[in-house]
Amino acid sequence: MGSRRTALAWVVALGALATMSHGGLARSNLEAGVTAAQQGSASGAQSTTYTEAQATRGKPLYDDICQSCHLTQNLLTGETFALTWNGRTAYELYDLIANTMPQDDPGRLTTAENVSIVAYLMKLNGMPAGKDSLPSDKAGMQRVKFNIKPSAWSSP
Ligand code: HEC
Repeated sequence: MGSRRTALAWVVALGALATMSHGGLARSNLEAGVTAAQQGSASGAQSTTYTEAQATRGKPLYDDICQSCHLTQNLLTGETFALTWNGRTAYELYDLIANTMPQDDPGRLTTAENVSIVAYLMKLNGMPAGKDSLPSDKAGMQRVKFNIKPSAWSSP
């Protein structure tokens, strides 16, 4: 019977451990969320721009289709991109990509694909993801503006 009691003790101990780590996790997530919200409002930045899921869909498209030229022709990150696009709308970038890119076959991507690439470019340039999607209609995209912080300019 000794082994059963030991087993029971283990279960109780593990349960306590799991509860503790859950509590810790929930708290730190909450703190991170609050900090992000504070930073957003302090800078007057739009808190929602695109979702993480959209950027995740855009990444493989960007890697496969855009990087062949843009890895060397680095126009899509860094200070030059920030200075070119800050204050302009997501629609302007979407429109440029939809009509002129990929340069060797413009217009081959769908609206949804181009929107997810714009979302990925926002992520790549250090703009935070939010809980609302980047809209895929003109009026919606015109409400979202580029706001790339100087701290993100230096990243490649
Ligand atoms: C075949 C090569 C090639 C491919 C593929 C390509 N681009 Fe380009 N892209 C260029 C070149 C060259 C320029 C500069 C054009 C100019 O200045 O007139 C450019 C310019 C741009 C610009 C304008 C940058 C700015 O700030 O003015 C954007 C945005 C862009 N590309 C996005 C993309 C995206 C997104 C893709 C993938 C869907 C892509 N490109 C695929 C060659 C390419």
